[in-house]
Amino acid sequence: MTNPLRERVQVLAADITKLRVEAIINAANNSLLGGGGVDGAIHRAAGAALLEECRTLGGCDTGAAKLTRGYKLPATYVIHTVGPVWEGGTHGEPELLAACYRNCYELAREHRIRTLAFPAISCGVYGYPVRHAARIAVAETLRALTAIETIDEVTFACFGEEVFWAYERALGAAI
Ligand code: APR
Repeated sequence: MTNPLRERVQVLAADITKLRVEAIINAANNSLLGGGGVDGAIHRAAGAALLEECRTLGGCDTGAAKLTRGYKLPATYVIHTVGPVWEGGTHGEPELLAACYRNCYELAREHRIRTLAFPAISCGVYGYPVRHAARIAVAETLRALTAIETIDEVTFACFGEEVFWAYERALGAAI
């Protein structure tokens, strides 16, 4: 008997900027003014109007999340969140990463967003060990899918084999 939650979450090897979902999550920095990695890819795909809107937001605290439109992206919205920089795991990183997911889901609830896709927040430049991050991502996602009935589907858009398998394993271990 498969857990019904399993129908509402998927792991995909994908470029998040190409996904036709209502919201994609951006792994941003505190300035919200763009950067490299997925942040750079999202801004390039969305166009200059995204940066213009980001300029009005006054930055974003680590662990917090802010919503903008998606502009030229297939996604209607971008939810920008700032993950923790990995400093060994004893500086509140797990709690801050969990807060990123919780705050993104809170915005999804508020805006009745039904489909969303996450990159592996903090697992690139910010150096978070992928296996640990994937477990947090999966745990917070299952909690959100249980609590928020308006969310139909969550996609983990993974770049590269290591990230893909880390998420597949974390999901398989959880449900
Ligand atoms: N689609 C999906 N995932 C992507 C894409 C993409 N187009 N591009 C990169 N990624 C993956 C990376 O391979 C990594 O697994 O997103 C994950 C997060 O990596 P980063 O983008 O480096 O984000 P993060 O580790 O949270 O660091 C954030 O990097 O780009 C800057 O401005 C950003 O300062 C901030 C920092």
